[in-house]
Amino acid sequence: MSNNFQHANKFYQSNNNEVSLFRQAAEQHLPVMLTGPTGCGKTRLIEHMGEVLSRKVITISCHDDLTSADLVGRFMVTGGDVVWNDGPLTRAVKEGAICYMDEVVEARHDSLAVLHSLTDHRRTLYLDRAGEVIEAPATFMLVCSYNPAYRSSLKELKPSFRQRFVTIAMNFLPPEREAEVLVAEAGVDMSVAKRLVQCATSIRSADDVFHFEPPSTRALVTAAKMIAAGADELEAAEVCILAPLSNDGAVTDGLSEIAAACLLGASRSEITDNNKQRQSGAKR
Ligand SMILES: Nc1ncnc2c1ncn2[C@@H]1O[C@H](COP(=O)(O)OP(=O)(O)O)[C@@H](O)[C@H]1O
Ligand SMILES: [Mg+2]
Repeated sequence: MSNNFQHANKFYQSNNNEVSLFRQAAEQHLPVMLTGPTGCGKTRLIEHMGEVLSRKVITISCHDDLTSADLVGRFMVTGGDVVWNDGPLTRAVKEGAICYMDEVVEARHDSLAVLHSLTDHRRTLYLDRAGEVIEAPATFMLVCSYNPAYRSSLKELKPSFRQRFVTIAMNFLPPEREAEVLVAEAGVDMSVAKRLVQCATSIRSADDVFHFEPPSTRALVTAAKMIAAGADELEAAEVCILAPLSNDGAVTDGLSEIAAACLLGASRSEITDNNKQRQSGAKR
C-alpha cells in the first residue's frame, strides 16, 4: 500500500497506522486526540482525513481566554434584536463536520466541560443559554491535538479528559519519507531534501543535551523553500532551522557545527552545479 496521498492541493505522507486508526475511530463515532511535537503533521493529517471521509473540517485554535461561549455561541445584539449566534463547535455539530481543537491544552478546564456530553455515549451538545439540545449526527467528529513534550508549558490536560479519546501519538516521519515531503512541498531535489533531513535528525538526537523543541518538519519545509528561491543550504538552515531553536549563543554555535557537518560534508558529487556555485558563495 502506498504511503503518500495527493489531494487537489495538499499532499499527505503517512507515518504509521494513523490513517487507519483515524478511520476506525470515525467509523465508531469516537473522539480522537492527536499528540506529537509541533510541525510533525497533525494538522496535515486532519486535512487529509477531511478529504478521505468527505467531511468539512472546522478548526478552533485554543488559547487561555477561550470561553465556553466562544465554543458554543452567544446571544448578540444586531440591529436592535437579540439573536443567538452559533459558535464554531455548535456549527460543527450541526453540520456533521470534523471539529478540530488545536492545542487544546491551552484552553481552560472549565471551557472544555462543554465537551463532556459530546465525547461519551450521549454525543449531545447542551446549549443551556439558548435552551437547545443538539444530538450530533453520525458524521460529527471531535478531534483535539496537543504537544505533550512542550517543556515550558505548565499546563496539562486532566487524565479524565484524556481518557475520553482514542489517542494517536504522532512523531516526525522516518528520514526518507520526511525528505519526500520536502520534495513535494518545496520542489527541491531529493539530494537537498536528504541533507536537510540529516541536519534535523542530528539536531533532534542532540535535543537531550540542549533541551529545546526539536526542529520540525515545518521548519525543514521552510528551509527547502528558501533554497528553492536561491538561498544557499547553510544559510537557509541557519535562518529556518537553527535560529528559531535557541537564543543562547553557545547552543547556536554547537548547532551550526552540526548543520555545517551535514550540509557541507555531503558528498560533493551529489551536489548539482547550481548548488556548487551557491556553496562557494557561502564559504566566503
Ligand atoms: N505527513 C506529512 N505529509 C505532508 N506534509 C507534512 C507532513 N508532516 C508535516 N508536513 C509539512 O509540515 C508542515 C507542518 O505540518 P502541520 O501538520 O501543520 O504540523 P502540526 O499541526 O503537527 O504542528 C505542513 O504544512 C507540511 O508542509
Ligand atoms: Mg497544527
